[in-house]
Amino acid sequence: MNITMKPKVTILTNQNSVLSNFLAEIRDMDKHTDSLRFRYNLQRMAEIMAYEISKNLEYTQKNIVTPLGEALSYVVKDKIIVASILRAGLPMHTGFLNYFDTAENAFISAFRKYNKDNTFEIKFEYLSAPDITDKIVILADPMLATGASMVMAYKNLLEHGTPKFTHIASRIASKEGLEYLENNMPTDKFAVWLAALDDELTAKGYIVPGLGDAGDLAFGNKI
Ligand code: URA
Repeated sequence: MNITMKPKVTILTNQNSVLSNFLAEIRDMDKHTDSLRFRYNLQRMAEIMAYEISKNLEYTQKNIVTPLGEALSYVVKDKIIVASILRAGLPMHTGFLNYFDTAENAFISAFRKYNKDNTFEIKFEYLSAPDITDKIVILADPMLATGASMVMAYKNLLEHGTPKFTHIASRIASKEGLEYLENNMPTDKFAVWLAALDDELTAKGYIVPGLGDAGDLAFGNKI
């Protein structure tokens, strides 16, 4: 019998915290056109997510010498790769790096190529990554819409080794995108971290209520 393991999915707004304020602001069309604030909120949410993810890492003991003696301390043992999907993942990337000081970096470029009938395919363009073998990958993209770019990004990363575990970090996911991830990731060694899970996805692949186009809000319109 083929048993599919469901990944652990954590939706951070299921518990009250200040992260809900940041989520409200990135959704709010009266506020989110301030791109500096939009980027900063994505970054701050990634910092909170980094703290939550850090509770799942492996730690090692270290004796730290203070001016007055020695303190038995615990420091993160895992080697971390922060991998972001361009361009919307960049503010989250900064947030994760603010907490994981020695993390290595990977970047994946993917875009939606729309057909005349409004359907679209995800086109992969570029990957820059170190060896990810046995490391912890944090794969960041703020919007998990269809889930196709996240799965494609993960599969391309595998050209650089097999990670120990992958944390998929998004701000808002659609139910359809989450289901796609659960059914199409070629591994069960991953967890999903979200700020919110929304019900709908439009035919053009936008999350409803969502927030609009995260890449445009962070970095301006594209042609
Ligand atoms: N990408 C976005 O930026 N927004 C969506 O709603 C879906 C994908």
